[in-house]
Amino acid sequence: MTDRPLAAIVLAAGKSTRMRSDLPKVLHPLAGRPILSHVLDAVAALAPARTVVVVGPDMAPVAALAAPHQTVVQERPEGSGHAVLCARKALADLARPGSDLLILFGDTPLVEVETFRALVAARDAAPRPDLVLLGFRPAEPRGYGRILCDDDGQPAAIVEERDASDAQRRIDLCNGGLMLVDGGILFALLDKVGKDNAKGEYYLTDLVALARAAGHGTAVVETELEQVMGINTRAELAIAEAVLQSRLRGRALAGGATLVDPTTVWFSWDTRLGRDVTVQPNVFFGPGVVVGDDVEIRAFCHLEGVRIEAGAKIGPFARLRPDSVIGVGARIGNFVEVKNATFGEGAKANHLAYVGDSRVGVGANVGAGVITCNYDGFAKHATEIGAGAFIGSNVALVAPVTVGAGAIVGAGSTIVEDVPADAVAVGRGRQENRAGGAARLRARRGGAKRKAAEG
Ligand code: UD1
Ligand code: MG
Repeated sequence: MTDRPLAAIVLAAGKSTRMRSDLPKVLHPLAGRPILSHVLDAVAALAPARTVVVVGPDMAPVAALAAPHQTVVQERPEGSGHAVLCARKALADLARPGSDLLILFGDTPLVEVETFRALVAARDAAPRPDLVLLGFRPAEPRGYGRILCDDDGQPAAIVEERDASDAQRRIDLCNGGLMLVDGGILFALLDKVGKDNAKGEYYLTDLVALARAAGHGTAVVETELEQVMGINTRAELAIAEAVLQSRLRGRALAGGATLVDPTTVWFSWDTRLGRDVTVQPNVFFGPGVVVGDDVEIRAFCHLEGVRIEAGAKIGPFARLRPDSVIGVGARIGNFVEVKNATFGEGAKANHLAYVGDSRVGVGANVGAGVITCNYDGFAKHATEIGAGAFIGSNVALVAPVTVGAGAIVGAGSTIVEDVPADAVAVGRGRQENRAGGAARLRARRGGAKRKAAEG
């Protein structure tokens, strides 16, 4: 690879009105994190000396997300060429002959690192072009800028759809938007860009003709539509999500997981699955899930911010919420909700329980219908369940409370005091059996019911 210094300019100042959203477009989530984070992460793989993000006014949340990368504000959206010029000062030291300036779009998150590398590699190939474009040939080129090539097949100009002649519109090689430009020419050429065009904007794309006129070499690297697809509408956001999900599923399968019905499993960008994990249909992975080897996740689970250790069995219909750890071989069954809780090795909560702000010891058993009452309306409190303890069905554990190791809590108890290790605790109303009482009651109440029906 090259040892030329590289800097990246990410354009994100566009108004994105077509999203019809109060949230800046690049903050909309895709596979569990903002669109812009995908772009910044992909470019980080190239280890640029600097990344500058161009944002619009009133986009403080975008700047906050981009940090620690530098942001510059484009006060008015006067076009992509103008947006790049806004980064001039921030890159003054890196914009010199022989450096690489990579321009990319904050709303185009599906470009893969290999494609960035291909652009950089094209700069190295003879005759060492000063400007490399990313092109693609969509089945339906409408809306995109067309790349006009010379007889040698090198880009001579880009003409935007609105400014194109009918003949030019028939060209199928389109501009993906990204480009890699020599640091010695970028800003000097942008100074020459005018706005005498259909949109009245400073087009970044005018750079190509200007570069050629000044005797600089150009080249184009081709990729597929899927990578350069920009997100302008909610419909495109959904398409991008589908593309990303399909990549993430492919990665999970290649990594040694079985997905019984891949298209029904939804991953986050950071989901990590071990070997021989089985995921049944309709499972949702929110951000921050790490799954160990040999884990089985049965149908219809919703997981987020949880580490599931080797051999555990989850679901069907389990909900695991952030800051939880399910230990080796532990079992979380149907309709169990776990939040900020740790289950030790082999611990179980098999049916219908809520376990929050809790630690469940090794081999402990949480029965059906157990609730840790962690919230008193003001603050959250912790529940400790010791190793090997047995919590009977329908027990309310009113936190803060500790059940000692090996203790047994009788079904239906409301536990408000700590239970010592190995004790049996029962905390419920005492049962009373009245012999023959049912027959007496029927005789009395049945008569009354008849009279009411006759009256
Ligand atoms: C652009 C290209 C077009 C290409 C297409 C690929 C230009 C002139 N045209 O068109 O050739 O086929 O992308 O998707 O570049 N932006 C700013 N400030 C502005 C204007 C735009 O930051 O004043 C940013 C946008 O946020 C976006 C990017 O620049 O990230 C591209 O702008 P957009 O308006 O989407 O250009 P397109 O019309 O899609
Ligand atoms: Mg666009």
